[in-house]
This record gives sequence, structure tokens and C-alpha cells, in this order.
Amino acid sequence: MNLARIREAIIPSFSRKYPIYGDQELQMLRKASAFNSQLMDMIRDQISPGITTGKLDQLAADYIRSHGHTAACLGYKGFPKSICTSVNDVVCHGIPDDIELHEGDIVNVDVTSIVDGWYGDQSETFFVGKVSDEARALTQVTFDALHVGIQAARPYCTVYDIAKAITRHAESRGYSVVRSYQGHGIGTEFHQQPGIPHYPHDSTRKNIIVPGCCFTIEPMINIGIPDTFIEPDGWTVKTKDGSLSAQFEHQIFMTKDGPEILTQTQNGPQEGHCFK
Ligand code: MF3
Ligand code: CO
Ligand code: CO
Repeated sequence: MNLARIREAIIPSFSRKYPIYGDQELQMLRKASAFNSQLMDMIRDQISPGITTGKLDQLAADYIRSHGHTAACLGYKGFPKSICTSVNDVVCHGIPDDIELHEGDIVNVDVTSIVDGWYGDQSETFFVGKVSDEARALTQVTFDALHVGIQAARPYCTVYDIAKAITRHAESRGYSVVRSYQGHGIGTEFHQQPGIPHYPHDSTRKNIIVPGCCFTIEPMINIGIPDTFIEPDGWTVKTKDGSLSAQFEHQIFMTKDGPEILTQTQNGPQEGHCFK
């Protein structure tokens, strides 16, 4: 008997509150994610001391619009810009502004496009010029934690398995995993089921990922404590202790044989990359 089919039969339908995508939908997801990855490759070339995060936002907005697509973040729940730029102790959802990036900063750029109604979502943390050993080590652990999480994602695994792998990787190296924000199912909506926590919450032990599920993994890892707070602007999430935070995000499609990374870039770091 085929184990996968037995599992499929016993998973109660109420535990799957997310769409299972077939071949035609996968083509749409691949197209949206591929476009988003090109956008990320374009942004990567622009990162250098002196550029403002507002300029990065404008370049991204122009690129998306000139290709006939839509910036998912602009106006999403009132978010004022087209991308998120999170510098140093900003964990996520940083709002692009007129402040220049400085040598030694780390900046996460999170870009999300809508292509023919389908979402592509990914982020990378970049070095601005030469950065400290602490910043480089944090960025390496965060990048590796994403890929450890992707490797842990198998057909019929639970979201708990992914979180456990990520947290083991980060905590064993002395870092902490942000608990208040998580990855998410994605498709014709920005954020949908299943939630993909990066920290193993007991309540998620039965949340199964079946073939046809599309979701993001996007761990945020801190040098200090995992706690965060939101600035009065209502968006900018920072570490409570002011320590550095890094993040990487990929969009994943679960095939019957394992995870397919939909947001692979041409020029960005690939699995196993060593940041220098
Ligand atoms: N791109 C983010 C994510 O990975 C969400 C940003 S929502 C925004 O889920 F409103 F802040 F843009
Ligand atoms: Co996301
Ligand atoms: Co994102």
C-alpha cells in the first residue's frame, strides 16, 4: 500500500483549509514568481551606500508597472509603499523613506508582485558595502535556516517539522527566532492558509502540507531576544533589544516529489552560498 495515499485518506478535510493547486495553476504561480525573482535581481544591483530605500521603492514600482503587473504591497491594509525595506534592527515591514543606506548596514528587501492575479513573494537580506562580522554571521545563519526549512518540507510533513528544523539551526548557533510573524499560504491571495511558523508552536503539530500546496518560508532571526515591537507608524517591526535582525523568504510549491522553489533568482545566493 502507498503510504502517501493512506495519509491522504485519513487527513480530515477540515484540517486542509487551503487550496490545492493543479498543473495549470502551478504554471501561473511559476510565472508570477519568476517575474518577482527578476525584480529581485534588478534590486540587488542597486544596493550600495548612499541609495535611499525610497529610491529602491521607486525603481521596483516602475519595474513592476512597466511590465504590466501590480505591486502587491502598495495599499495592502494601507501599506504606503510598493516594497518593504527593513534596515538593521528592523525585523520586517519597514517603510521605504528618504534615508540613505550606509556602509555597514544590512537591509532586507521584500518584494511581492501580482501577475495575472497570482502572487510572487520573496525577500533577501543585503550587505551595504562591508559589514561587521556579527552582521555577516547573522545573515549566513538566517539564509541557511531558510534552506534547512525548505529541506524539512516534504509531502505530508507538518508545518511544525519545518519550524523545528529552522529553530534548531538558529538556536544551536546562539540566535533567536522571531515568533510573532510567520510564512503563509499564497496563490490568488497574498496571505492565506496554511500559516508557516518558524518557531515550533505545539498547536501546529497536525497542520499537514500536501502536494499542491503553495506557501512561503521566511524566517526572521535575531542576534538578541526574539521579542519585537511595532513603531507608531503602525508597520515598522523592530527588535525590542535593538539587536540586528535578518530575513530571507522563498515561495515554495509542494510537488508530489518534494519542494520546488518558485522564486529562485539568476544572480542571487543559492543554497549553500557562503557570504563573504
Ligand atoms: N511581503 C510580506 C510577506 O512576506 C508582507 C508585506 S505586507 C506589507 O508576507 F503590507 F507590509 F507590505
Ligand atoms: Co511572505
Ligand atoms: Co514577503
